[in-house]
Amino acid sequence: MKKALVELAHRLAQHPLSFHYLRKLPELGYSATKTRLRVLLERLSPQRVLDAGCGIGEFAHLFNPAGYVGIDIHAGYVRLARRMNSSHHFESADFITWEGGGERFDLVLINGVLHHLGDPDARALLETALHHTAPGGTLLLVEDVRLPNAPFGTELIHWLDEGEFIRTPEAWRELVETLIPIEQGETFRSGLCAYYWMLCRIP
Ligand SMILES: C[S@@+](CC[C@H](N)C(=O)[O-])C[C@H]1O[C@@H](n2cnc3c(N)ncnc32)[C@H](O)[C@@H]1O
Repeated sequence: MKKALVELAHRLAQHPLSFHYLRKLPELGYSATKTRLRVLLERLSPQRVLDAGCGIGEFAHLFNPAGYVGIDIHAGYVRLARRMNSSHHFESADFITWEGGGERFDLVLINGVLHHLGDPDARALLETALHHTAPGGTLLLVEDVRLPNAPFGTELIHWLDEGEFIRTPEAWRELVETLIPIEQGETFRSGLCAYYWMLCRIP
């Protein structure tokens, strides 16, 4: 039964539109994450934003199209992202090996990507992100988090989630801080989901 449900979730996630609704409904339109991002953007006003693992570009509309680059490994997601945000720039690529055009970004966002990756790949992706962040810029990580006594709904979402590496706050800190200190780290709820928000400043 569990295997069948997980396989169904996996198959649905391969299709850009069902992936979109599979995530958007339990997260109540991502309103909690978007509210937090808007507050951060008011504070930082980044001109150039790199959205690593942007999916279908759900968060792209929060950023000025002129300075935005979204990268995702899934070509189908990128096609839908382009359709939904025609003024923004998207590329289909593995971000771990993405070379970019030499530009450095004021804000690099990694939202819901690293919990799909084991430690070596997650570290490699973080290294690429740091390489593309401008001096004085910000790296923002928003990742699914495993919390003690999580409600049943959260456990259910984690169970169906494709991410096999949903870590505790301590494990996230341990992973990230091998590369860069976390200036702000806190958990928050987004509908049924629980996230860890980690903000790092590049010296
Ligand atoms: C849970 S989705 C999050 C998408 C988007 N950031 C959002 O919050 O709506 C994870 C995304 O990471 C992408 N991804 C995973 N590994 C990647 C890699 N190595 N390079 C680029 N994208 C990757 C997947 O294709 C997927 O779109």
